[in-house]
Amino acid sequence: MEGFAEKIKKYYGNEYFSAREYKRMAEKSSNPRVKLLYEQLSMDEERHQKILKAILELKSPEEREVLKDLKVEDVDLKPQRSKFRSVIEEAYNYMEWHLRLEADATKAYETMMNDEEDEVIKMLWQKLYSDEKRHHRIIGLLMKTFREMYGSVLSGR
Ligand SMILES: [Fe+2]
Ligand SMILES: [Fe+2]
Repeated sequence: MEGFAEKIKKYYGNEYFSAREYKRMAEKSSNPRVKLLYEQLSMDEERHQKILKAILELKSPEEREVLKDLKVEDVDLKPQRSKFRSVIEEAYNYMEWHLRLEADATKAYETMMNDEEDEVIKMLWQKLYSDEKRHHRIIGLLMKTFREMYGSVLSGR
């Protein structure tokens, strides 16, 4: 069975990767509203790394070192690259992929929250869970806007 520290390490890696990806997407966005949303997402994922670290410290301080040897290659979650007909299509593919990651994170943190007996740690999982649920909604909204703007380019998908 996967140990607690290993689980935290996996979530931590995903948060690290998402924070970096959202930051990159914010930098690439020319629309100020879209940029702001991506910046917010990135900041949240950075905060989530701190929360996960705190949870590990509280529950299993003797294993805190596992987060130190996290390698970027371990968390390279990039979507499968297929041939895209346009930049628009590629960007949309990224959103779909993030939508899935956010859904997975929501589910994982919800399970951790429900299984936790310590009230304080439960609240931390609750915070992660509700943030990821909101992220999922935000990405859905961005995708809807994108479809409205570029529907013609995306049609035929
Ligand atoms: Fe997160
Ligand atoms: Fe998220």
